[in-house]
Amino acid sequence: MARGLHSHLAGPIFHEPVFGETDQLPDPNGFSTEHASDTELYKQIGDLLKTEVVAIPPSRAADDDVFPLAEAYGNHGPQVTKLIEDAGKIIFHALGDSGASNAGKYANELRVADQVTLDAASSSPGNQPAFLFHLGDIVYNFGEAQYYYDQFYEPFRNYPAPIFAIPGNHDSFVVPGTADGHEPLTTFQRNFCSRERAITREAGSLHRTAMTQPGVYFALDAPFVRIIGLFSNALEDPGVISNEDGKWPAASDLQIKFLRAQLKKIKDENYQGAVLIATHHPPFSYAPQHSGSGTGGNHAGSTEMLRQIDGICRSEGVYPHAFLSAHAHNYQRYTRIIDFAGKEFDVPFIVCGDGGHNVNPLVRPSRGHRAEEPHSGADVKYLEGKHKPAWAKQLLLEKYDDQNYGYLRIHVDKNELKIGFHQVGVRSLAQSRYDMVTVNLADHTMVAN
Ligand SMILES: [Fe+2]
Repeated sequence: MARGLHSHLAGPIFHEPVFGETDQLPDPNGFSTEHASDTELYKQIGDLLKTEVVAIPPSRAADDDVFPLAEAYGNHGPQVTKLIEDAGKIIFHALGDSGASNAGKYANELRVADQVTLDAASSSPGNQPAFLFHLGDIVYNFGEAQYYYDQFYEPFRNYPAPIFAIPGNHDSFVVPGTADGHEPLTTFQRNFCSRERAITREAGSLHRTAMTQPGVYFALDAPFVRIIGLFSNALEDPGVISNEDGKWPAASDLQIKFLRAQLKKIKDENYQGAVLIATHHPPFSYAPQHSGSGTGGNHAGSTEMLRQIDGICRSEGVYPHAFLSAHAHNYQRYTRIIDFAGKEFDVPFIVCGDGGHNVNPLVRPSRGHRAEEPHSGADVKYLEGKHKPAWAKQLLLEKYDDQNYGYLRIHVDKNELKIGFHQVGVRSLAQSRYDMVTVNLADHTMVAN
């Protein structure tokens, strides 16, 4: 039986979900890819990465349905939920961009997956993560079925808990010439949005059963926390969640209706837990304001996407306690200070896209100018873009790490949400936490530790 929350329970039971392997397996010594490097494939597809939005597959669930964590645990669900409730808190992991697109990157992916697995397996009872929420870009270069084994099932083979995911651009972009039925989102759905707790062909000889989340966008309802995951589509930039009045004809407004219904439900229920919104593409990603200070990292923020989310939050009267994203291959923590319903909210916006694929600098030199790194707490209001709303009072880049791989370990109890960023391979696991922010759930105030 895999270690983790599940290990407190009797079992195994037939037709139950399986998470990690029973035995600790050694790291793999093989890796397969058709492409020698990202660069080779990227040259072939060029501008398509800026234009080829894909259709958003509808969820099986109604817009206002939530997917209970208990359901992912099968018949053990009620017992797992009770253990979490008795502990008075839930712990979970989140990370993005774990996939390795070539053999040279694979060791980094394995190091992150091994540490997050060790973190789960070695946590004391009551502190064990209940799940991992993957923020997208699981399989590079573009979500091919034949790479799911190497890039997802093998690295996370011993992770002893459910893994949920929203697809990233690399899990959804369709390379020209892809055969019908082999589109990456079809493969993603087979492995994460399955109707059955089945072992898929992608899992090979491993035993993790497919996740049964209802769609590529969904609301995970766990004790103390609800995570609304949105699919931000297949472009390198920007993130796209909807049709935007015909700007992205392939995309529909399904997720707009979904997000509205979810926030309305939170309001109607007077939900008291933590509310998180997660997208693969980050609303904010650092770039200097002036080119004399260098240029930004590998990805810009997606402010149009944020404008839409903001608009729905404001019309429904619910703003999340924090925003999680990935895509940029580093860690960035912003505080957005907003006026909301007559109060001031501190909202952490976190980028955690250094889950194994790469680590990129926040700033690069430009035209003879050296890269000037921002200081902690830098005022970066300009990252709100041209149409900064008046109610968005401040935007601060509080802390970042563009040198190390890492993941988030998140704690939620009835009063607080704590988001910690852990570096991989820098110090011992016990000392791996580099940053932490705590949000008071009742009044949306925040302290960094
Ligand atoms: Fe990405």
